Amino acid sequence: MRFEVKTAKAHQLKTELAIVAVFTDNQLGTTARTLDKAGDGLIADVVQNGDINGKTGELLLLTNTGNLPCQRILLVGCGNRKTLDRKAFRKAVRSAFGWLASKPYNNAVSYLAEESIKGADTFRTAHISAECWHDASYRFTAMKSTDKTTPVALKSMGLAVRNAKAATAARKGVSQGNALGVGMGFSRDLANLPGNVCTPIYLAKQAQTLARKSKKMSCKVLNESTMQKLGMGSLLSVTAGSDQPARFIILQYKGADASKNPVVLVGKGITFDTGGISLKPPSTMDEMKFDMCGAASVMGTFKALAELQPALNVVGLIPTCENMPGSSATKPGDIVTSMSGQTIEVLNTDAEGRLILCDALTYARRFNPDALIDIATLTGACVVALGKHHTGLLSTSDALANKLLAAGVQADDRAWRLPLTEEYSAQLKSNFADFANIGGRDAGTITAAAFLAKFTEDLNWAHLDIAGTAYRGGRAKGSTGRPVPLLLEFLLNR
Ligand code: BES
Ligand code: MN
Ligand code: ZN
Repeated sequence: MRFEVKTAKAHQLKTELAIVAVFTDNQLGTTARTLDKAGDGLIADVVQNGDINGKTGELLLLTNTGNLPCQRILLVGCGNRKTLDRKAFRKAVRSAFGWLASKPYNNAVSYLAEESIKGADTFRTAHISAECWHDASYRFTAMKSTDKTTPVALKSMGLAVRNAKAATAARKGVSQGNALGVGMGFSRDLANLPGNVCTPIYLAKQAQTLARKSKKMSCKVLNESTMQKLGMGSLLSVTAGSDQPARFIILQYKGADASKNPVVLVGKGITFDTGGISLKPPSTMDEMKFDMCGAASVMGTFKALAELQPALNVVGLIPTCENMPGSSATKPGDIVTSMSGQTIEVLNTDAEGRLILCDALTYARRFNPDALIDIATLTGACVVALGKHHTGLLSTSDALANKLLAAGVQADDRAWRLPLTEEYSAQLKSNFADFANIGGRDAGTITAAAFLAKFTEDLNWAHLDIAGTAYRGGRAKGSTGRPVPLLLEFLLNR
């Protein structure tokens, strides 16, 4: 699929489908009015008849277009004209593109960005449009023996803008939105694969294949004996019960001068979390295949970097293994020594994410990170606190936290900050080791971050808990691709 930025007017542009806005109170959008005038009132008639009332995301297809050069017109409800903001725009575009993705048309032109949209310039509306197409046309059929979904037919999507100056901004928006869409698609594919396919070895292979596609990218994979030599006793204690060997993936993107310190992204890559000896209950345990969504978001971000080739240095670290029970599995009460030298009493083997992350955070020091961000489906408590809407953000740096929050707002992939003051770390007290890996029932998301903070002292570090946002359960079960939008926005803001 190709995106093409168009400046021609709707009544002069040939297409199989023109996508135009209508608003509540029988109001036509800018483009709908142009087409209506050229088409003898054919849109106004339909709207006046009440066939569409303009509610955001509502759709109505007109197949009778008289002498107009478009074969069909899709009317898209955009709500109240005066309150059309970025969120409503996204909803309307997503609705239209979702419908279009299952139609047999080869080409279409969206005129929705010709309306004035609060909080979104031409760059952003084009960005959103490209991103929405990727989302709307995303299909995960890799594991079906026969693909019963209608294939996506569209070959070219025109994005109309008002003039040549706007076209320049729109092209930039399309390129960034497209790269994001590609990155999110990659991230979603990895996460949607089952645990018996997407193993640590599989993730490592995917990372290596990805790195081979760009001259600026490289990938190194460490095996268990190297991890042993590095002293990653905490990480290795998690994989102890599994027959699948663990991996430590190091992705590097070098787009800027070597003297420029990188942003280091660390993604939790538990390819399946049974809980270990502290076994999880069976209901919805299948969703623990998504426990590598942090890893997938790092790989998705690198995929987008490969597309965009920005002048940045970024390192991606992915500790990846399974958390299984077994005769050699770590037991509650076992004490392990992390790469930092600090000892940890494993009171609950289901609090494994922090155990693999802490060694990766220690390893990150060798890159002298300008900023260090870990991304993890870390705590069920985060889902209780924030639901599926906001990613949990915890940081000891106000400046870094604010940049991440702002990036989330810009990208419509929001995070919400929770406190991380030192009182919480007292909950991790252990009678036997330096500290324990759990902090009791209260403030589970914060004590998990407080644990990580013991490994990031004096670093510019932030933690993103994506347990609620990285995937959906229930009927719409599947990976969302979040927080790739936030991460990419944050990186490109630099
Ligand atoms: N991967 C889970 C966190 C999780 C739970 C993600 C539900 C998504 C949905 C993590 O490894 C875990 O099991 N955390 C425990 C920590 C507890 C033992 C302190 C939890 O949240 O219950
Ligand atoms: Mn767990
Ligand atoms: Zn987990």
